[in-house]
Parts: sequence; C-alpha cells; structure tokens
Amino acid sequence: MNTYYITTPIYYPSGNWHIGHCYTTVICDALARFHKMKGEEVFFLTGTDEHGQKVEKEAKSRGITPLEFVDPLVAQLKDMWRLLDIGYDRFIRTTDEDHAACVQRIYQKLYESGDIYKAEYEGHYCTPCEAFWTQSQLKDGKCPDCGREVTLQKEESYFFRLSKYAPRILKLYEENPEFLQPKSRVNEMVNNFLKAGLTDLCVSRTTVKWGVPLPFDEKHFSYVWIDALANYVSALGYASPQDALYKKFWPADLHMVGKEIVRFHAIIWPALLMALGEPVPKQIYGHGWLLIGGDKLSKSKQDAVKSELTDPYELVKRYGTDAVRYFLLREIPFGSDGEYTNERLLNRINADLANDLGNLVSRTQAMIAQNFSALPARGLQEGTDGELIAMCEELFARVSADMDALNAPEALSKIFAVISRANKYIDETTPWVLAKDPAKRERLGAVLYNLAETVRICAVCLRPFLTKASAAILKSFGCDENAGFDTLRFGLLEAGTPIEKIPPIFPRIDVKKELVEVEKLVASMKKSAPLKREANAEKVGKKEKEAANAAAKPLVAFEDFTKLELKVGEVIACEKIAKSEKLLHETVKIGNEVRSVVSGIAKYYTPEEMVGKKVVVVTNLKPAKLCGVLSEGMILCAEDENGNLSLVSPEKEMVSGGTVR
Ligand code: MSP
Repeated sequence: MNTYYITTPIYYPSGNWHIGHCYTTVICDALARFHKMKGEEVFFLTGTDEHGQKVEKEAKSRGITPLEFVDPLVAQLKDMWRLLDIGYDRFIRTTDEDHAACVQRIYQKLYESGDIYKAEYEGHYCTPCEAFWTQSQLKDGKCPDCGREVTLQKEESYFFRLSKYAPRILKLYEENPEFLQPKSRVNEMVNNFLKAGLTDLCVSRTTVKWGVPLPFDEKHFSYVWIDALANYVSALGYASPQDALYKKFWPADLHMVGKEIVRFHAIIWPALLMALGEPVPKQIYGHGWLLIGGDKLSKSKQDAVKSELTDPYELVKRYGTDAVRYFLLREIPFGSDGEYTNERLLNRINADLANDLGNLVSRTQAMIAQNFSALPARGLQEGTDGELIAMCEELFARVSADMDALNAPEALSKIFAVISRANKYIDETTPWVLAKDPAKRERLGAVLYNLAETVRICAVCLRPFLTKASAAILKSFGCDENAGFDTLRFGLLEAGTPIEKIPPIFPRIDVKKELVEVEKLVASMKKSAPLKREANAEKVGKKEKEAANAAAKPLVAFEDFTKLELKVGEVIACEKIAKSEKLLHETVKIGNEVRSVVSGIAKYYTPEEMVGKKVVVVTNLKPAKLCGVLSEGMILCAEDENGNLSLVSPEKEMVSGGTVR
C-alpha cells in the first residue's frame, strides 16, 4: 500500500488565532483526506511549538509555569481544529516526552559527529519570530521578517555547521526541482541566502531555559527552531526503539508551510537531515498568505485594520465548518497571496455553495419527490446527456491531477464546473415541461437519474473539502457517506433508491445585512479586548479575598466592587475532571480570548448541557489549579438554601466578551 506523510508546521501557542492560521492546516487536511480516499496509508501530523523565550516570558509575567500557560492554549487550538474538522493522525507537542527525548538524541548525534561545536555568539534576536539575525540582515535595525525590535544577545553557545551544507543544498535544488515549490521560493532561497554562503547556526541558549536541555551540556537548552523542526521525525519515533512509523513514513511526502518559514524548512532542515545521514523530505511547499489591507493577516494587523471578522470560532459559528473550509481552499490561487474580506467570503458562500451546489441538490431532490416515489430508472441517453455523463466520468482524473499538483482551488473549480453544467442541463432539459406530458415520463426519469448521479459523483469528489455537506448529500441520496473514489463510475445508483429531500445545506446569506451585523460584532469584540490578566490579578488583594470568604459580608465601597472584572463568556467545550465528582473543566470564549475554567457544578450540569451556554465569568481572579487543571476565572451561579444551583446568564442575547456591571 502506498504511504503518504503530510505535515503542517507546529503552531506557536499564541492564542490569537485568526483565519490566516487555519489556511495551512485546512489545505493539509483536504490533501490528507484525498490521499486516504485514494486508498493510501496516510499519516497527517500537526501540533504545537511550545518552547522558547516568548512563552517563558509570558508565563513568568503571569506567575505561572510555562506549561500552565500553554496547556489551555493547546486545548483551544485543538478545539479550533475540531471545529474545522481537521482529521490529524497525531497532534504533537514539543513538550511531549518522546519529542524531547528525540531532540536530545539528535543533538547528541550531531555533537558526536562534530557537526555541533562550542563557540561564542553575538546576534540580534527577534523574540516573536524566535530568530537570530546578523547586523547586515536587519532592516532599519529591526527584524527583517516582522519589522519588530530586536535585542542584541551575546553568549557561549553551540553551533551547527550549516555552512558546510550549502553546496549540497544547492545541488539538492538543482537535481530535485520538486523539492521546493512553488519555483519562486527556490529563487528566494538561492538569492537571499545560499548565494552569499551560509554561516553556522547558533543552536543553543543558556538564557532561555524553557527548552530541551542539551544532553552533553545541561546548562544549554535547544534553540527553538531545531526543537520545532525535529517534530517531523520525533512524531514517528526517529532514532528510538519504537521507530516503526519512521521506517514506514519517512521521508515525508510533503511539508506544507507558509512562505515566511520556508527558509527554516528548505535550508536548515535538509542540512540537519544530511548531517544526521537521513533522507530529506520529498517536498516542501511554501504557500502564500491571507492578506488584510494588503499585508499579512496577523493579530496586530487585524486589530489595526477596519472591521473584518477573522476569528475562526465566530466564522464557523456563523457560516459553518464547510463554508470556512471552502473559502480557504477555493479563493486563494495556490502559491499566491490573497486578500481576505468578509464580503469575499460571503460572496463565495452564496455563489458557489448556496446557488450552484445548493440549488442543484435541492432542485434535483424536489423534482424527484414531486414526480416519483423513489429514484427513477436510468433510461436512454438523449441530447446533452452524453456531455454531462462524460464530464462526470472524467472528473476524478482531473481532480486527481490537480490534487497531485497540490492545487485545491483548481480541483474545486473542476468539480464546480460539473455542478454548473448540471444546472445548465436542468435548463436545457426542462423537467417541469416533461412532467406535464405523460408520454415523456420515461425521459423525465432519465433526466432526473442523470442529475442524481451527477450530484452523487460531485459529492464523493467533494468529500476531502466539504466534510459535512458531502456526507449529508450522500446520505440523502441513499449512499454511504464514506463512499470512496472507487464509486465514481456513472450509473451506480440503483433505480428505486429512496431519495430524501433535505433542507438547504447552505442557506443564502443577505450580504448587505450580514456585513452590517459583522461590523457590529467586530466592534463589540474589539471593545472587550484581551484582558491584562497580570495587572488585574494583582489588584485583587488579600483584604478583598478575606472579605469575599467571610460568612457575613461587610458592605463594600463601589470602588472596591469595580475591582472585580465580570464578563460574558461562551462555553465552547466542557469535560468532566476524571479525578473529581464535583468539577467540570470548561473552555470559555471571552471576546477574543479563550480560557480554561474549573467549576464545582458537575452535580448540576452535564458537560453536554454546558456547551453553548452564555455565562458570567469573574475574569480577574488569580489563576489557580484545581485537581491539577488550571482555572483562569470563575463562572457565577445562583444557589438557594436547598442547594439548588443555576448558572447566571445574560437575559438577552449578548456577545461573549460583553462586560457585566
Ligand atoms: N512555530 C512555527 C512553525 C514551526 S514548524 C517546525 C510557526 N508557527 S505559526 O503559528 O506562526 O504559524 C503556523 C502556520 O500559520 C504557518 O504555516 C504560517 O505561515 C501560517 N499563517 C499564519 N498567518 C498566516 C496568514 N495570514 N496567511 C496564511 N498563513 C499564515 O511559524
């Protein structure tokens, strides 16, 4: 059986997820699903990149450990992938024990072979990018990638002999044009980095302790990018006794990455693998960016720029998983950048999903229901039947060629060309006219059969892209929702199959009205900007705590009351805490932020009941751990003297993040 190993980059646990972040992973998910459906054995890897100075600093400023800081963010990211139906095979964390052990083995090997050596380092460090720059690489004294301030750092460090591998990397590009795609990225790497020759890379830190300690010198910790890149092989058990997956899946078929991190993947990573004597990945693809106002969509940009809704949770909530997936997969020409606006998203949903696909499905189902009790027989071919059938029969080969070229937008445009052709076929064959003439009943049946088969074939081809809609369509046509590509022969649907008429899968959106709603929502989300937890937490002093705990509460001054910060939150995930009978662990979305909250309400609410509830959360309580789970707030409840308990919720519809006073 063919194998296919595909990876996304591992994500920084920033918590400020936006639609741009979803791009890489949604593409990989569609590719992974496509290869699975082709009958290949697929391993799809994603995860989180948790070490480094940024996390260390953030955790310190909150008075919690780095792991306490990242755990809820990782839960939040996993939740985002669940919402987008991302079917990964492993979610790796660089804090996983097996990963850290693998990183140590890699360092040890390179140290023993002489490719890692000790020397003094001085460089300009960009903390957000976790990257070192030489003076000449800086742009106006700032980080050339993100334009932020850098700091000069000097320390005794270990270096990797990257310079030694420059000629081999150039040769790799020359001999394997497929290795780095699209082609423009090769020119960037050669002209910007390789031509001038590579300098050795500093791969250890003594100042940043939130990392993997080097096995041969425990004062030193791994450089985050070596740690991060190693995830692609550590996830498979590289250089461990449990290396069956490595033997099966390495070298990776595809590392899909955003263009800003191609340098790490197409230069440092192959050099490391060469030094380890391991094969390099078959392909690295550096995709383009989602832009907002012409620049890379990022949290800071999103805050600065007008009123686009970029929060994946809100987008999925408003338009559904498939619509968001579809936009990402269809809108941006693959390899290029593409502007993101809500209007473009809404127009895409309306034009392709509600109109073309939605209409074809509902018209076909409605006409079958009106005229027959079940699917009519195939009948004889006439008129343009042959053209439609040929398009259906050729569809898989076309889609497959596009997917082999990683071109999801083109693959989707081929499927939607068949959908458009089928809509045109309805206009050509005028089934409503045929229905009036009893002598044309057989022909009417044949037309509707051809339409049903077209819908089925398109739905099977759409499975890697629209995970929910394709399943619903297939089910309604009496087909297996997991139907594979082996079912793509025209004519497989059996006459007499009951056809269910389902409600519109993609209701048409009133774009004008929706844009006004979205603008309001974005404005209210901006008002409830992420909280300054550390500052707020400090405000709640000992005195206030004692007062809160006292049985008979003293009167409090208004200024004291206002020290409490109360916000509306929405419970987006909830589970029982295994070790406790009383506690539930909720993931609560509060405006742009997601928090981990533990509440003693397991006797009154089930986790299922909690999901979707709007609650009031005290957001400036100092974080605490309950049964080992971090709680970053308190959900308010009312309780009567008989011990009956009820959540306190806003009485009218209220956005999460709204202030309670
Ligand atoms: N941790 C590193 C990767 C290490 S891999 C060994 C990292 N993480 S990230 O969280 O910053 O980015 C994750 C992915 O999101 C990257 O592929 C990045 O390109 C992608 N995107 C983030 N913003 C994006 C857009 N605005 N548009 C498209 N993708 C972008 O980098």
